[in-house]
Amino acid sequence: METQIEIPPAIFNTIVNATKVAALTGAGVSAESGVPTFRGENGLWRNRRPEELASMEGFLDDPRLVWDWYDWRRTTIASLKPNDGHYALAEMETVYENFTLVTQNVDGIHALAGSRDPVEMHGNIWYVRCLKEGTVMENREAPLQRIPPLCPKCNTMVRPNIIWFGEELDTETIKRAGSAARESEVFFVIGTSSVVQPAASLAGLAQRNGAVVVEVNLERTPLTDSVDLFLEGPSGKILPDLLRRICRARGFDV
Ligand code: OAD
Repeated sequence: METQIEIPPAIFNTIVNATKVAALTGAGVSAESGVPTFRGENGLWRNRRPEELASMEGFLDDPRLVWDWYDWRRTTIASLKPNDGHYALAEMETVYENFTLVTQNVDGIHALAGSRDPVEMHGNIWYVRCLKEGTVMENREAPLQRIPPLCPKCNTMVRPNIIWFGEELDTETIKRAGSAARESEVFFVIGTSSVVQPAASLAGLAQRNGAVVVEVNLERTPLTDSVDLFLEGPSGKILPDLLRRICRARGFDV
């Protein structure tokens, strides 16, 4: 059954007729697939300071602790499947002429659902980087046989190829994310607490450049007061419902 989400007609028309659309996703989009979110009661930080598990200082202090945490996350994610929210976002690429998916998630599940080229702002948990040479390699071993894992070329320890606290985002990535936000007519913000920068600023950037900002979340966030439309509920339900309504209004088969 479809959820009865109220959308003011002017906003709905913009959503239906837009050609340039972008979406920013966060951990909440993968929650219905079984990936724990970061914040909240049973959050991924496991009552530790995020910097212990996700900063270069924390890693150099205790590489085994950090790799144990990543190995646990990788092993959990390895068996999980995309949910209807991921599939709806992949489908949006075929509905809109120009659709860019920007994600803070490192789980790689958007690509599994069929999203062709998601902008992964924080990296990808299935890639590692050699501490000596900086070489980035795919590594899908889960669980890892050796912790910490070593570079197959030079035997130096590798680190997860993730953007950690205190680190700069990749220049090309930030450029793509910024352009997508600036150029969009509709900007969706889905399943993110909107507290981590620079991702949290993309919605404001989009809005200042004329986009209608639509937030989908189970609860209100620091962004909610400034968005044009807040859709409260699980993304795995809201997004497929919204997509069906968009397709129907555009005269596509659903
Ligand atoms: P958070 O854990 O901070 O927030 C998850 C958000 O998803 C919350 O606002 C929840 O209310 C919402 N949520 C949960 N389940 C949902 C569902 N089924 N449908 C819709 N919304 C749902 O995760 P992020 O905002 O992604 O960075 O965190 C941002 C960054 O902080 C992460 O990428 C990570 C972390 O530090 C790094 O590790 C670099």
